[in-house]
Amino acid sequence: MLQKPSPKATEVNNQPSQTYADKLIKTKDLLTQAARDFSPCVQASSLGAEDMVITTLIHQIDLPINVFVLDTGALHTQTLALLERVQSRATQHSKVLVYKPELTQVIEFIRREGQDAMYKSQTLRKECCNIRKLEPLARALKGQRAWITGLRAEQSNNRSQMQWIEDDLQSGNPITKFNPLMQWTWGDVWHFLAENKVDYNPLHDQFYPSIGCAPCTRAISLGEDFRAGRWWWEDASAKECGLHQK
Ligand code: ADX
Ligand code: SF4
Repeated sequence: MLQKPSPKATEVNNQPSQTYADKLIKTKDLLTQAARDFSPCVQASSLGAEDMVITTLIHQIDLPINVFVLDTGALHTQTLALLERVQSRATQHSKVLVYKPELTQVIEFIRREGQDAMYKSQTLRKECCNIRKLEPLARALKGQRAWITGLRAEQSNNRSQMQWIEDDLQSGNPITKFNPLMQWTWGDVWHFLAENKVDYNPLHDQFYPSIGCAPCTRAISLGEDFRAGRWWWEDASAKECGLHQK
């Protein structure tokens, strides 16, 4: 007997909240404000569902905001394929920039600690995140007045206290951080993606709500927390790689 294909994330999660329309207006206003008052500013995109919403809005409003992706060298093939598609849709006003880690640092770390070092201790996991994410992030944010993220308050306890616009410190340098999807629900995100027929990472159809590096991301089961598939072997309070650490 043929098995029924599992439903798409756009079908399962398309559940806008009552205030969706207001949130969409607020998000557009914030992006416009970032482009107008904080130039140059960039969008940080992991190519996850939230970030695809923001990139689509940047294109729709035609804002002069570049998009950067940290290609850690450990992303899923599905994410890399989406990156190529997103790059092919870059506009004159919104380029897609890719930042990779320093190869010598990656090789030295793997030689010293092995390919699976992230599972051995939190210290080694953080060292890997420093090499593959934080050092490239510092380069991506150099010279920028603000950065825009796809963080949402409901994603985790760590994120529940965020603001629309925050004073942030990255590599010792002050920078403004915009969180224009702060109040969006998961249902809002998928409503936007469905309504606007936005391309997205097919891993979302396989129960990966939150997608990071391949060795540190797994699918979640029914009833599990949104970020349960990220660094699942670590304590829940530690589930941040440092990009958004206070
Ligand atoms: S993480 O800190 O746990 O990895 P998460 O995957 O939830 O972050 O993504 C939150 C936001 O961080 C994204 O919406 C995006 O703005 C930024 N971000 C995360 N990973 C990347 C990446 N690889 N490249 C660029 N931005 C990223
Ligand atoms: Fe390394 Fe995992 Fe951090 Fe990616 S998420 S940089 S693979 S420890």
